[in-house]
Amino acid sequence: SRPRILIARRLFPEVEQRLARHFDVQTNPDDVAWNPQELARQLADKDGALTTGGQRIDAALLAACPRLKVVANMAVGYNNFDVDAMNAAGVQGTNTPDVLTETTADFGFALMMAAARRMTESEHFLRAGRWQRWSYDMFAGGEVHGSTLAILGMGRIGQGIARRGAHGFGMRVIYHNRSRLAPQAEAECKAQYVGMDELLAQADHLVLVLPYTSATHHIVGAAQLARMKPTATLTNIGRGGLVDEAALAAALQTGRLAAAGLDVFEGEPVVNPALLACTNVVLTPHIASATVPTRLAMANLAADNLIAFFDGRGPLTPVNQPATRA
Ligand code: GLV
Ligand code: GLV
Repeated sequence: SRPRILIARRLFPEVEQRLARHFDVQTNPDDVAWNPQELARQLADKDGALTTGGQRIDAALLAACPRLKVVANMAVGYNNFDVDAMNAAGVQGTNTPDVLTETTADFGFALMMAAARRMTESEHFLRAGRWQRWSYDMFAGGEVHGSTLAILGMGRIGQGIARRGAHGFGMRVIYHNRSRLAPQAEAECKAQYVGMDELLAQADHLVLVLPYTSATHHIVGAAQLARMKPTATLTNIGRGGLVDEAALAAALQTGRLAAAGLDVFEGEPVVNPALLACTNVVLTPHIASATVPTRLAMANLAADNLIAFFDGRGPLTPVNQPATRA
């Protein structure tokens, strides 16, 4: 009989139909965000799942889903996976790298520019009917071109942002990463490797593009913000938990930091009220990869992973190496 698949959230109809040609598919037509108990109930008799990053795959869920063999995440990040628990349970995980790299780099750059040039703050002012006259310092922000772009997390997306800054905007690019890039990759994005303290101290615009793990939790907190220039901006397109949001809100309120751009939040979809109270932060609802072609490519890559896995060809973009499921 055909493998049983759960598609955890509503998807492009063509991708749902494609999966239905290969599998017995259960969808989520009302697009409900199931709680962990409901997700476990929906997955209990399934062989595979297509998830979106909002569903936690941990030991408790795996214990309730004995047939489960593969979970295809429609995201490059997979901090919703407990990889150790999946390995122990013999469950393959996959993600969607590469197809979203340039689109996500575009958005990271746009968010950084919007923060630096106060684009949403000034739009709110205009829409509120408060634009009565010219003033020399009205929404005067920080410079982007020619300034120092600091990237924390130099994976594919970080390198894409670096290339945009170096080649498009004449920025000086510095970066910090767990490991240094190969010389050729550094040369392509004209990026210079620096230590974390130097990165913070020299940044005019700091962009976070790291995966979220226990090692990167609150990697930017009060101590790190205190090392930054008061004229600097901070942009986060990685995961909310990379930043201590309370410390960031305090820095934005007191002028310790000029502005921020945030696409990701610790309590998504709930946003810390202290951040909502700041005018100098651009807030977007985790949409950095959201173009129609890229979301379609991500959905199809997740589907391709499920199809290849059950065909016995092996997953295309695995994130773990599970023990064989007993
Ligand atoms: C989105 O945040 C992703 O990881 O793809
Ligand atoms: C993240 O993993 C990336 O592709 O940059």
